[in-house]
Amino acid sequence: MSNLFITRPTLPQGWLLQDKKTIVDFIERRHFTEVYKLSDGDYLYLFHDAELKSKVRSRQIEHEKIVTAGKEAIGKRFQSHSNEEFTLRINRILSKSGLDAVAGMDELKQIIIRDIIHPFQHREKYKEYKLGIPNGILLFGPPGCGKTYIARKIGEELNIPTIELRESDVGSPYIHATSGNIAKAFKEALRLAPSIIFIDEISGLLPKRETLSGSQQYRESEINEFLVQIESAGSRDILVIGATNFPDRMDSAAMRSGRMDKRIFIPPPDYNARIELFKMELEDRPISFDVLPEVLSNMSDGYVASDIKLTVDNAARTALSKNTEINMMILMKSLKETKPSLSKSELNEYLSYQNLERR
Ligand SMILES: Nc1ncnc2c1ncn2[C@@H]1O[C@H](COP(=O)(O)OP(=O)(O)OP(=O)(O)O)[C@@H](O)[C@H]1O
Ligand SMILES: [Mg+2]
Repeated sequence: MSNLFITRPTLPQGWLLQDKKTIVDFIERRHFTEVYKLSDGDYLYLFHDAELKSKVRSRQIEHEKIVTAGKEAIGKRFQSHSNEEFTLRINRILSKSGLDAVAGMDELKQIIIRDIIHPFQHREKYKEYKLGIPNGILLFGPPGCGKTYIARKIGEELNIPTIELRESDVGSPYIHATSGNIAKAFKEALRLAPSIIFIDEISGLLPKRETLSGSQQYRESEINEFLVQIESAGSRDILVIGATNFPDRMDSAAMRSGRMDKRIFIPPPDYNARIELFKMELEDRPISFDVLPEVLSNMSDGYVASDIKLTVDNAARTALSKNTEINMMILMKSLKETKPSLSKSELNEYLSYQNLERR
């Protein structure tokens, strides 16, 4: 026990982040951990393991054990403590953009990288094998789970111009004006290519033809025109991304091969995604050290991303009114008071669309 020397680290000059936060401060808030410096120069990151924490504080644990426990906790993430490595990693976390900014959803991100990002970034290589980029990708699933958010993050990740359309932007009560607007959007996308056309709430623009009423028959030709545009998008280096809650309302021809080639179900966040969402939402707010994102995640099964955001906002409001930090009690109370926006039966209905998925 004699060789246990832990101190709160003092950081070298120049390690202050923007807004004067120290790196340690940042790591502690972002990762819900505590940082210590060991006598051998190593840094130790302690997750909120209450037992371990109290042992460290009361110095009732041997040095080696602390190092092992620390490495098991977060040491892997920051194995190298060189100045450069540290700064690089911190910068990456600070400037979260693209898919890095999507919390959790690891399987989904892998699919997006494999099927969208790679083919787009290595188009020449893919062409050699006579493989193109997908023409269209449809993101579908229950509300508030990140379809719109993820579509925008795909654009950021690819770092190419994105034209965003909604039915209300292009839909027109005048006959044929909608097709004209869609054609204009594709023309612009072609000028900017490689580019993305992102159509939110796409089922409004591509409804099932058999559901059109007599006075809407002219929309058939609009739908046709739209389908033709989608079909040739990939060969023109345009990626069409659509998002909808109701894939079953889309015209079935839109779902055929060569159009919405990839259809990806965006599910409600799972346990790990919810942990990340809580961390993301709590980041940079005054939080108490008793906050345990794992416990909050356990308590929020069935909550979608926007519910978690609302929960944390409400907790922040309560804490502000009490002039205190956001603590676990406030968060748990807020969680109880914020009902999940999706009922079990609604969720089951959305899950039943999952068979429309095509990865
Ligand atoms: N995986 C995620 N990581 C980080 N934030 C997320 C994630 N998913 C959703 N969010 C947050 O939740 C908010 C709601 O998500 P979004 O609007 O994309 O849902 P949606 O599926 O498009 O819902 P709707 O069907 O109602 O349009 C987003 O603004 C974003 O801040
Ligand atoms: Mg949306």
